[in-house]
Amino acid sequence: RQRVLSGVQPTGSLHLGNYLGAIRNWVKLQEEYDTFFCVVDLHAITLPHEPKELLHSTHSSAALYIACGIDPAKASIFVQSHVPAHAELTWLLSCITPIGWLRKMIQFKEKSKKAGAEEVGTGLLTYPVLMAADILLYQTDLVPVGEDQRQHLELARDVAERANYLFGGKKAKKMGCRHTRLLKVPEALIPPAGARVMSLQDGASKMSKSAESDLSRINLLDPPDLIAQKIKRAKTDAFDGLEWDNPERPEAKNLLTIYQCVSGMTRDEVLAEVSSMRWGDFKPRLTDALIAHLEPIQARYAEVMQDEGALDAILAQGADAANAQANATLDNVRKAMGFSVPL
Ligand code: TYM
Repeated sequence: RQRVLSGVQPTGSLHLGNYLGAIRNWVKLQEEYDTFFCVVDLHAITLPHEPKELLHSTHSSAALYIACGIDPAKASIFVQSHVPAHAELTWLLSCITPIGWLRKMIQFKEKSKKAGAEEVGTGLLTYPVLMAADILLYQTDLVPVGEDQRQHLELARDVAERANYLFGGKKAKKMGCRHTRLLKVPEALIPPAGARVMSLQDGASKMSKSAESDLSRINLLDPPDLIAQKIKRAKTDAFDGLEWDNPERPEAKNLLTIYQCVSGMTRDEVLAEVSSMRWGDFKPRLTDALIAHLEPIQARYAEVMQDEGALDAILAQGADAANAQANATLDNVRKAMGFSVPL
């Protein structure tokens, strides 16, 4: 079976962008693929963090994966830092990744500008190598992510090709490697709708965990009255009716997309239903659809969080499966690169 891997950073709470761009699509994939879903806690410390929050957020994110429909009987759910191979492969790969590749990353440019380029931790720059290691350790075929990760995925592909070129093939054979193609070159899987959910307060910027105002995003655990309030206050425009593709109406496109995704309708069905509506008619409908969609997820989340022992057992089982696969890849790469094997 082909393999799928993806992950979300446990920074704050997960939001609708994470769900529509990523997690929702993982659920379908677990039926047909060999799937690994990781809570990428090592990624969550590239900017200053609060240890207690990281710990809570890690458990909470894993519980949300399950609440959203990831089934531990079908998929391996694990915490990145429980699999030491991620950190080790990152070092090996970072030594063959040109620093210029990393400086070009849009996310690095944006985040380091905000924090002051000389002040930010080195990890903010090398972060995409850690992401490449996450993916490449599992010989992953497909990586279901939102649009904002496309560039990082490209980098992971480039790093895999470079490692294969430098140490794979005949050279790996000479080193006695079992697999001469060291790392599989993965493909991104980006959904047709929901790949880029925008801020509720500005249709031109992405919904994100780091945006200052909580009104800009719907968190998966927001209670119904808060969701209603956020949609009520969401930015709109002065046009009549609603439409999909007017470039002057990014907010309309965004809210229609959210409606489409949570209601399960097609674009045309949404258009037929709402094209003649005013914002004042549409917003309550969107609110109801969102609340109806998130309610069962929130109920399931509460159940999962009640039994921390069971959640820990799921994560331990996931880490066992992940360690087995990750160590096989790492051992092969170590051998190819000429590292001695300890007794
Ligand atoms: P992160 O934690 O920022 O986001 C997790 C997933 O959610 C998607 N996403 C969005 N999709 C649509 N609209 C949005 N507004 C939105 N915001 C976020 C992201 O595209 C992502 O799929 N580096 C990654 C995490 C990562 C990873 C990996 C992913 C680490 N290792 C290996 C896949 C494979 C990140 O920071 O995502």
